[in-house]
Amino acid sequence: MSDKVPATVEWAQTDAGPAVRMIDQTRLPGELVMLDCTEVEQVAQAIERLSVRGAPAIGCAAALGMALAAHLSEAETMDGLLRDLAAARERLAATRPTAVNLFWALEQMDQAAREATGADVEGLKRALLQRAQDVVEDDLQRCHAIGRNALELIERGANILTHCNAGALATAGYGTALGVIRAAHEAGRGIHVWADETRPLLQGARLTAWELVTEGIPCTLICDDMAGYVMSQGRVDCVVVGSDRIAANGDVANKIGTYTVAVLAARHNVPFYVAAPLSTVDYELASGAQIPIEERDHDEVRLLAYRAAEPVCPPEVAVYNPAFDVTPNELVAAIVTEKGVARPPFGEALAAMADG
Ligand code: MRU
Repeated sequence: MSDKVPATVEWAQTDAGPAVRMIDQTRLPGELVMLDCTEVEQVAQAIERLSVRGAPAIGCAAALGMALAAHLSEAETMDGLLRDLAAARERLAATRPTAVNLFWALEQMDQAAREATGADVEGLKRALLQRAQDVVEDDLQRCHAIGRNALELIERGANILTHCNAGALATAGYGTALGVIRAAHEAGRGIHVWADETRPLLQGARLTAWELVTEGIPCTLICDDMAGYVMSQGRVDCVVVGSDRIAANGDVANKIGTYTVAVLAARHNVPFYVAAPLSTVDYELASGAQIPIEERDHDEVRLLAYRAAEPVCPPEVAVYNPAFDVTPNELVAAIVTEKGVARPPFGEALAAMADG
């Protein structure tokens, strides 16, 4: 993101020792406040309450959380350290179920531990910190590559609709869907963005609009229920969204409301594009029907995005609050990854790109 904005999530030194430092996204756009987590439990709770959110950013936070667990371990033997790491892994893995990047990043950390077989306790701690920082740097590089690869899809003067926040705040930096938008803007394509507000937690209004306004990328905020009308006016040229998990057949889980946008796009012949790193593809799931969908606290629907304490409904009304939905692959025109643009049939195209 702009030089004025700190890293979404990083390893930092504080007076209290090393910390996983993150932008507290629950406070945006009102305040840009950093949160230093010096305990693994704090990292886990930050992921749960969405201080750090967005699939790749959650993975980065979890990887750094494992490095923190290693640093904090008082074990003097490898067995003791590995036991402490297993406990941290279990806690971090239990935070949010849908974004596969979390589990992918934890697997990267397991792999680093396996590869460090000859190391002593201090050597393993160093190896884990190095791997966590590699996970973060690698995500940033993947986002830039996604942006470059998507340029072939974005016409000059395009009006691009996006849902939720798949920006620098949702990744190690630059973003996936917003990486596509940033790259097109930087390439002088003269684009304009329609940002869905994205109820219940308003990631579109609070975070996407904030990122775009901060960088001077032309953007108009709409309520979620306005997307169809704007498309019917011929004012949307394509949709670009991120993803939390893509099944092997190209079914796409993303923020609740994405499926609605995809159906509207199909109705109006607007191409629907997904931008995601290959760490978001879950090759073990044949279809989106197997993707676990997180259900969140009902107060997120009763209240307005962390802010007003006054419910917007009778407090006793029943609430259903699924955080994600699944868009079937037939509604997706292309999936842009760091390795290129995958087109239908996605099973073959994604298999050919498989992370080596
Ligand atoms: O609940 P959130 O805010 O973590 O949901 C985020 C999304 O759905 C994003 O669109 C997705 O993680 C892609 S982020 C590059």
